[in-house]
Amino acid sequence: MRNLFVTGGAGFIGSAFIRLALEEFSDCRIVNFDALTYAGNLDNLSGIDESRHRFWRGDITDPDAVLAALEAETDAIINFAAESHVDRSIASAHEFLRTNVLGTQVLLDAARERGVHRFVHISTDEVTGSLPEDEEAFFDESSPFAPNSPYAASKAAAEHLVRAAHHTFGLNTVITRCGNNYGPRQFPEKFLPLMLANAMRDEAIPVYGDGRNVRDWIYVDDHCRAILQVMERGRTGETYNIGARNERRNIDVAQSVLKILGKPPSLIKFVKDRLGHDRRYAIDPTKIETELGWRPRETWESGIEKTIRWYAENAEWVESARSGAYREYYARQYGTI
Ligand code: NAD
Ligand code: TYD
Repeated sequence: MRNLFVTGGAGFIGSAFIRLALEEFSDCRIVNFDALTYAGNLDNLSGIDESRHRFWRGDITDPDAVLAALEAETDAIINFAAESHVDRSIASAHEFLRTNVLGTQVLLDAARERGVHRFVHISTDEVTGSLPEDEEAFFDESSPFAPNSPYAASKAAAEHLVRAAHHTFGLNTVITRCGNNYGPRQFPEKFLPLMLANAMRDEAIPVYGDGRNVRDWIYVDDHCRAILQVMERGRTGETYNIGARNERRNIDVAQSVLKILGKPPSLIKFVKDRLGHDRRYAIDPTKIETELGWRPRETWESGIEKTIRWYAENAEWVESARSGAYREYYARQYGTI
């Protein structure tokens, strides 16, 4: 698996994956196919070995563009490209269906047409819905689908299409389902980077509802290392949960980040809850641990420290991400808090 076709490689996780794959495998070559939506940023790839990376601007819903970029000797397609933010899907689901559902089918068809050896589809724990907060329940790979947001529903639909391509056509597929990623270069619409960017500038941190919703956090490079292992050694047709056994309530995350930054808890502002807000995500990663021997390398403390350092040292990246259309989005989403 050394000739890779990565979609969404200018986004948060896709760019971390490209960095890691180029570092881990000296013979790895990557075509990075990305539409550069508001979430895509070529600066996310600064410093990588350009001789082994080719950027191709294109939309995964466009079959001609995908086939033009997809070389016949491609070992694997790794599909990160997606509309990824739940709040935006609540405001309007259209782009989520277009990219996440239709785009995935276009890629599956192209994989078959070009004889691509393996199709790695990046999914989310959100396809299995919400867990009760006070029970010892976890998502495993056989948990029933129960998507609650338009984002989660579009990712669930994509998984069904991947499954169908495996079952019907024998395409060599693997699916990964991960929880909430954090780390450098995450677009500041998501909770953690939004919080960091705001707190570093002494601006309020919006916490939805009562702040007791639980998310299962993983450092982005740990997620990417797991994807590499699934790509190389995962069993065909299988799904692998990826999680670092790191459940935290949003309010606790906010408080601990403010403490590390030396900022007052008064920056926290409870705001109107997200519609349909999932209460708790918690991943059982036993399968990937036992079958592939994967383990996260970062603890929450070490991962958060690296993340905070990156945002502190990259104020320019943050300012650029927060300019333009982001300001309009922020005003629509939060009003004046
Ligand atoms: P992101 O929003 O940061 O990046 C998405 C990338 O996809 C961007 O570079 C964007 O330009 C590109 N893209 C969007 N629409 C496209 C299209 N039609 N054609 C080509 N490229 C397009 O997302 P992310 O956080 O890096 O997430 C990557 C993947 O991981 C997604 O599939 C997401 O569902 C999944 N995932 C994310 C998380 C998380 O915590 N961020 C957790 C689990 C799973
Ligand atoms: P988010 O980063 O949007 O990821 P997801 O919805 O995919 O889990 O949100 C993480 C958690 O933080 C989620 O419970 C919603 C909450 N949240 C806030 O409290 N305030 C915010 O401004 C945002 C964006 C999220």
